[in-house]
Amino acid sequence: MRIEFLGHSCFTVETGGKKLLVDPFISPNKLAAEIDVDSIEVDYILLTHGHEDHVADAEKIAKNNNATLISNFEIVSWYKNKGIEGHEMNHGGNWSFDFGDLKYVNAVHSSVLPDGTYGGNPGGFVLKSEGKTLYIAGDTALHMDMKLLPVTSGKIDLAILPMGDNFTMGVNDALIAADFIECDEIVACHFDTFGYIVIEDKDAAVKKFKAKGKNLTIPAVGQEINI
Ligand code: NI
Ligand code: MN
Repeated sequence: MRIEFLGHSCFTVETGGKKLLVDPFISPNKLAAEIDVDSIEVDYILLTHGHEDHVADAEKIAKNNNATLISNFEIVSWYKNKGIEGHEMNHGGNWSFDFGDLKYVNAVHSSVLPDGTYGGNPGGFVLKSEGKTLYIAGDTALHMDMKLLPVTSGKIDLAILPMGDNFTMGVNDALIAADFIECDEIVACHFDTFGYIVIEDKDAAVKKFKAKGKNLTIPAVGQEINI
């Protein structure tokens, strides 16, 4: 499974012979200015929730690629009205796609689409493919349901956790989340993009994880992670 960080909470995941794009917020992101949205080639777009900083480029990239959008029922319905193909899910549900198994799981946050349409409840994803398990938390607080993930999904090989604080967990709560999900390989997201969410001392954050036997990657835009 090959993962590339495209800034904020946006990642591509190449697995099972397909390319997935998670939460595209690229063209409005000054930190991702070197990425050309029109050159992105994907088969699927996964949206954790409806906020602008997760869906900004979803419509354009979906139409450029004739990609299938995967999210909760409300968000997929909104995109289907724009002529985009989609697969609706809801919390606790798993589906076997041609790239692997995907489960939509709980997040504690909010969700509204850019035009004010109700965006359902926010979520995250557990992706199982090529013998590996990836947890994409989405925007979320630390919550007790995270303890269910190793029970229901088994060993999590890598987790992408928001860590910028203010709108989501900060570093300290993310460290507890890593314990709850029993995962030692953590990648940070949702940091530095705009005010309120800057991780000021990245070395200190990495050290806090290391002290608990966990490896924290705070990725640069364009950085690749393989599991
Ligand atoms: Ni959000
Ligand atoms: Mn967000």
